[in-house]
Amino acid sequence: MQPMLANRRILLIIGGGIAAYKSLDLIRRLRERGAQVRCILTRAGHEFVTPLSVSALCGERVFTDLFDPHSEFDVGHIRMARDTDLVVVAPATADLMAKMSGGHADDLASIVLLATDKPVLLAPAMNPRMWDHHATQRNVAQLGADGIRMIGPNDGEMAESGERGVGRMAEPLEIVAAIEGLFAKPGAGKPLAGRRLLVTSGPTHEPIDPVRYLANRSSGKQGHAIAAAAALAGAEVTLVSGPVHLPDPAGAKTIRVTTARDMLAAVEKALPADAAIFAAAVADWGIAAPDQQKIKKNKGGLPSLPLVENPDILATVAHLKSNRPKLVIGFAAETEKVIEHAKAKLRSKGCDWIVANDVSPQGGVMGGDRNTVHLVTDNGVESWPPQTKAEVARALVARVAEALGGERP
Ligand code: CTP
Repeated sequence: MQPMLANRRILLIIGGGIAAYKSLDLIRRLRERGAQVRCILTRAGHEFVTPLSVSALCGERVFTDLFDPHSEFDVGHIRMARDTDLVVVAPATADLMAKMSGGHADDLASIVLLATDKPVLLAPAMNPRMWDHHATQRNVAQLGADGIRMIGPNDGEMAESGERGVGRMAEPLEIVAAIEGLFAKPGAGKPLAGRRLLVTSGPTHEPIDPVRYLANRSSGKQGHAIAAAAALAGAEVTLVSGPVHLPDPAGAKTIRVTTARDMLAAVEKALPADAAIFAAAVADWGIAAPDQQKIKKNKGGLPSLPLVENPDILATVAHLKSNRPKLVIGFAAETEKVIEHAKAKLRSKGCDWIVANDVSPQGGVMGGDRNTVHLVTDNGVESWPPQTKAEVARALVARVAEALGGERP
């Protein structure tokens, strides 16, 4: 089989941001898939990666400046802008995006971006405050209206400041998946076309009073990645998510809920589905009678908070007599005896597969970007290598497509 991006010509513009180091990996991943990658390194990009490392990875000379006599004589910026199948900007800085939005053209990168007649994909990366700024958001809206595609930015910790928020560049493999999506022929590479998928994600919050709640450490990253991968595979996806700090995944219908009961109601409303994947970390208990007013500290003694068991959403759906999805998949968050507990959960929940993961604090799975999972089915246990959550999502979606029997006629 030919690699996914065989003979595709990609012009990669590397802007000036700490995330530029990830663009080196992006070049490698694109070339692994058969793409030809030509690179422009902006003046600010130079501060973060060297032309030598970029050219070593892309296997060509790197273009660095508008008035570089080599780039002018050998290629010419207009030809460079047109002799490609796609222009990718990663990292796309606030400054580059502002220039694009305003149509500026004062260096090689901005001239090429103004002169190209090919699709452009941006992978923005910047400090969360810069991303949230009205000016950046105005530019994002303008670029969207101009037909520019965007992947990310993701929520997470900033490499340079340790701050958290939306602003991290999408991971190289996420960018690769977006590029493959752009090149995919309609219908091709869409093994879930015509299928309906339901995904739950994130924690649930169980109110104690109007200002306090019970919760857990789930970030929603794995569930959201599954919803995004399923949408990219052509499924009609409904994502029911508890409170998370993540953007809604592109291509999925996202329903935001707070409590386990809300989540069950939204899940029941979203049925029927061909497959349902329950990645949410649902709170097992809620407060029996949440207070309508903030509980005061000095009311004498400690408050008592009787708990009630929440509905088990996975087990409820797995035991449905009618409307049961053909494939019901649960997750098992365990801190010990992972596989043993997962096997028991497969039986007790009545689901078809369990994706088991070790969420002990030392593993960094909860809130982190990587995951090591075991797929537990009636046929046995498959242990997958450590991967990013996006990779786990793609592998799981591929398995779901296989189990549902490929494209629906
Ligand atoms: N789940 C659910 N509704 C609940 C609790 C869990 O749908 N009220 C689902 C989760 O989305 C996950 C699976 O059940 O797919 C297992 O969740 P997990 O928290 O690992 O297990 P619990 O059932 O909560 O059991 P325990 O906490 O005892 O391990």
